[in-house]
Amino acid sequence: MTPTLRDLPVDSLAGSRALVRVDFNVPLADGRVADATRIEAAVPTIRWLLERGCRPVLLSHLGRPGGVPDPVFSLEPVASALAEKIEAPVRFVDPCDGEEAVSASRNLESGAALLLQNTRFSPGEKSNDPEFAARLAALGDFFVSDAFGALHRAHASTVGVTEHLTPCAVGLLVERELEALGALNDPARPFVVGFGGAKISDKIDLLDAFLERADRLLVGGAMANTFLRAQGLGTGRSLVEEDAVEVARSILERAGPSLELPLDVVVTTDLGDHDARVWATPVDRIPDEALAVDIGPETRAAYEGRLDGCGAFFWNGPMGLFEDDRFASGTFALARAAASATERGAFTVIGGGDSAAAVRAAGLMDDVSHVSTGGGASLAFLSTGTLPGIEALGP
Ligand code: 3PG
Repeated sequence: MTPTLRDLPVDSLAGSRALVRVDFNVPLADGRVADATRIEAAVPTIRWLLERGCRPVLLSHLGRPGGVPDPVFSLEPVASALAEKIEAPVRFVDPCDGEEAVSASRNLESGAALLLQNTRFSPGEKSNDPEFAARLAALGDFFVSDAFGALHRAHASTVGVTEHLTPCAVGLLVERELEALGALNDPARPFVVGFGGAKISDKIDLLDAFLERADRLLVGGAMANTFLRAQGLGTGRSLVEEDAVEVARSILERAGPSLELPLDVVVTTDLGDHDARVWATPVDRIPDEALAVDIGPETRAAYEGRLDGCGAFFWNGPMGLFEDDRFASGTFALARAAASATERGAFTVIGGGDSAAAVRAAGLMDDVSHVSTGGGASLAFLSTGTLPGIEALGP
């Protein structure tokens, strides 16, 4: 079993420095945190440590600065947002390794947390450089891995650091994620999966894994266009992943009737023009000049019906371009159907990334069983059953 916070030696926690890898890769706007979901998700672990007299020293990446310092990707704005959430002082030190960081970790007052600058400002983070990992490890007395969204990356702060610190444990967020996503290995039946988003190629492993496991696969979003093309239908000017048409054909053959494609789609002639006509059409009558932007009303009803009596539901990827109100009906209908299924006792899990954003936009975050904080990480975990950042912690 992966060690958890409860496996830590309770008697020696007070006064010790907990080096915690969190995922504070949050959107910023005008120098402020625009969406604090990931910060809120890390609060239970930080509070757990503070309540036991530990001094939390927090490591995170933000964006992809490419191994060099870049003020656009500074974690400094996150420090004040975090202080508000944990209702405790948060000190901030830049850079994340070196003498100043180590002395800040040693001098941190009891009841406060220390946030370090973006780990990706150093090239050693991504290359999992052992020397950089050792410098990070000097910031703590033990290690807590709570950055679920980044555990599919074998980086210095997620994997390398575990070589230098004992004990290592997962935090409360990672524990919750592993429990919820792990439950989909043996789901209540019928087990329904909703698949959307743009690319089949990004999700091919997951599609394969669920072909075996799911009773129904409901496909929407631009990904559906590629399947429609594989069936020989005209898709007009819709986004189609040309390189994946063959793959789609082979998935269709293997899946048989458990894989459901849209019966109708919402189309428009010009995405950028708010006066352009928007209408629903059967999938075998998509005009040459139109492009599909959402599932249509017949498909919505059919997919809602599938969720009606399901025992478990997993959803990855929106059904259309939900960021635009005109094309959001299919995605929001599926989010509402997931919430209703949860109310009826089904176990419902929303993959991170865009589907989580859609459920948030629909105001239904608290109405489903679990919303993952990891996009790529939840896909990787469900496809392979583990993650590099979990493996590194040992049994
Ligand atoms: C995410 O946002 O999915 C995680 O923080 C990982 O970020 P990355 O894809 O830049 O590694």
